Amino acid sequence: MTSVDSRVGAFGELPHVFSEAFSVLTFERAAALAVQCLTRHLDSNDRRGVTLQEPADLIAQARALMSSDPHGDFDEQRFTHIIDLYLRTGIQVHTTGYMGRQFSSVAPAAGVFDMVSAMAPQPASFYEAGQLANVADSIMAQEFAALLGWAPNQFDMVATSGGALGNLTALLAARNRFVPQAWTEGLQSRSDGRRLGIAVGADSHYSVSRAAGVLGIGENCVVRLPLDDQRRIRVHDAVTVIDQAARDGIDIFCLVASAGTTATGSIDPLDELADLASERGLWLHVDGAHSASFLVSERLRPRLRGIERADSFILDAHKTLFVPAACTLLFYREALSSQLAFEQVASYVFDEPYSEASRMESGGKNLECTKRPSIVNLWLLWSMYGRQLLASKLETLVDLTDMAHGLISAQADFRVLHTPQSNILCFQYAPAGGTVWDRDSLQSALRDKVRSRGNFLISKADVGDERALRLVMMNHEITEPDVRALLDEIREAAREIGVE
Ligand SMILES: Cc1ncc(COP(=O)(O)O)c(C=O)c1O
Repeated sequence: MTSVDSRVGAFGELPHVFSEAFSVLTFERAAALAVQCLTRHLDSNDRRGVTLQEPADLIAQARALMSSDPHGDFDEQRFTHIIDLYLRTGIQVHTTGYMGRQFSSVAPAAGVFDMVSAMAPQPASFYEAGQLANVADSIMAQEFAALLGWAPNQFDMVATSGGALGNLTALLAARNRFVPQAWTEGLQSRSDGRRLGIAVGADSHYSVSRAAGVLGIGENCVVRLPLDDQRRIRVHDAVTVIDQAARDGIDIFCLVASAGTTATGSIDPLDELADLASERGLWLHVDGAHSASFLVSERLRPRLRGIERADSFILDAHKTLFVPAACTLLFYREALSSQLAFEQVASYVFDEPYSEASRMESGGKNLECTKRPSIVNLWLLWSMYGRQLLASKLETLVDLTDMAHGLISAQADFRVLHTPQSNILCFQYAPAGGTVWDRDSLQSALRDKVRSRGNFLISKADVGDERALRLVMMNHEITEPDVRALLDEIREAAREIGVE
């Protein structure tokens, strides 16, 4: 990168746009403008939800910001307007009106480092290309292993871009352990007429059954396990269902538990499920995208008891460790398991014989070739603040959810659907005299009306056969008056849609 004035390349004078678009001066100016816009945005903590626009209107606004000059240059005004449009039309995760989704606001140091890694790209799958990312993988793996009580060097961790990819990779490893020839021969090699299956909690995330589809297992062989009244797998009934599947010709090779589920944040009884998995020789995978981060807190860690016995589990640091997306950690209890997912020969990237450096790189163990070094954002936060920052924030979010649970339970016109096990709470508006609305459509209509009023963002979810309003507490600045204001907002929304 050069300053804008050096315009001579190998073939003579460079077009102006080259030297301007790629110049250090443009970087400096763009970064300063972005910092100004973002600082203004983050500094305004009024309660806001989301301002939904009609797609056609937004397309028109976006098009109006596109230069008609095919030889355009860095236009400060246009650049600032584009940033503002992005910020204005997005979810306002930093405000106290945001209670609706699992995306979190990002710790500023981690967010700013993400810009550093965007500007100085170091693809993290290969040591040569991303040395610090590979070292950070190894350090973060060891830090978490200590919390799990795992012995050094007997486990492995692969960072992936997102929980869906983490789940897919773990299930692939599990399948390949069960059908070792699957990678080379495919699943046709099974000639006994039996089918492969996985057992999952009825509320498991859709990425799990999607992974089953990708792996050739088929939706019909995703066996759903019954849940208790707190939406956790009922272990006793799970045994019956798994045995019935075997009689139906389905070989369950993997049991997928959740910590916590997307709809209600429920955490399955992992220790008992680990017993079941080991009795039946099943691979136990825990989808801990949302709550496996509780490992960092002494107070919350006991909720995950048994996770250390899983064959694999995932944790989304971009959800509940407050770093930019996507940063997922996929842990394998046994180091060799991480080799099961992929078998690839590619001389242009994989070194043989393995060196100390190439042994620690993840390219052979994850789907991605180019991978952002997002793990460094997490390592940076951990290095600067220590794990206690993350623990305290999670504990605060859990306490906030408990507070909301207490408050909502005490209202005559609301009904909670479960006791929170993490930072998610589902509830219903249920006015005493009843309404002309049926219960479920009322919840959907209320969530839409609350959203369109623009002060709060909450979500909805189906809890068993009931539709619910859903809170996800991600902002530690939310207070009890904010939750009370939300309840009043829902009542006001109810009046607006004609509920007396
Ligand atoms: C329980 C659970 N698993 C997996 C995922 C998918 O994770 P990602 O969005 O990081 O791909 C989610 C996302 O919400 C989730 O809640």
